[in-house]
Amino acid sequence: MTQSPTVLKELPLDLDRNRLPKHVAVIMDGNGRWASRRGLPRIVGHQRGVDTLKNLLRCCRDWKIPALTAYAFSTENWGRPREEVQFLMTLFERVLRRELQEMIEENVVIRFVGNLEVLPRSLQDEIQKSTEDTKNNGGIQFTVATNYGGRQEILHACRSIASQVQQGKICLDEINEELFEQHLYTAGISNPDLLIRTSGEMRISNFLLWQIAYAEIYVTSTLWPDFDRVEFHKALSAYQQRDRRFGKL
Ligand code: IPE
Ligand code: IPE
Ligand code: MG
Repeated sequence: MTQSPTVLKELPLDLDRNRLPKHVAVIMDGNGRWASRRGLPRIVGHQRGVDTLKNLLRCCRDWKIPALTAYAFSTENWGRPREEVQFLMTLFERVLRRELQEMIEENVVIRFVGNLEVLPRSLQDEIQKSTEDTKNNGGIQFTVATNYGGRQEILHACRSIASQVQQGKICLDEINEELFEQHLYTAGISNPDLLIRTSGEMRISNFLLWQIAYAEIYVTSTLWPDFDRVEFHKALSAYQQRDRRFGKL
């Protein structure tokens, strides 16, 4: 970790604590480029990216933002070279094992969204363990999107609802937004207020397609491993400048 814990420990004074987002989602992009620019292998960028995420989680806790969701691996990321995919799967597993005790102590509730069934068995075990061991905690809600795709999630919800209709458990008229959300992986988690994407890419890359309908989007050219509290402060300042109209006047 590069950041001294005293740096911006408290919420910066120019931010209004009553107008903070209740849920921040991050597309953690730019690990590979961060490493390449230093002549390092891409995987070093991913390792640094983990430290960044840990710092951000702590920061959300310190600044009293109750929910954080991070995009760790997309359904499209399987298309990367085998060694990189393999490295990431092992990294996720190792990090979960290493951080679990601390997450328990820090009262974090961790959840995973995505198609988890096709992940390596040993990773699934860590996922299950960390979910189970933190589910009764009362602190920050930390959601990790792993083998996650927004379109795939919507299809999953459609199938799940269709099956209930088929079995006569619900009728067509009962299908509304509220019911639909109950069939998403994110059931029970509020929709993000702020979506941050690092590394300058102006796209969503299949992340939380349903849930971000009214999220404020903030894109920074900063690469993910460099996204520290100072950068997060900038994102929150930008967020507080926005006028969230939700289609009204
Ligand atoms: C994001 O960084 C991490 C994952 C997608 C797993 P990238 O690996 O996409 O880094 P760039 O975009 O190639 O720099
Ligand atoms: C989005 O980043 C996925 C994650 C951060 C896990 P990508 O690097 O995969 O997205 P694209 O390819 O630039 O759209
Ligand atoms: Mg990328």
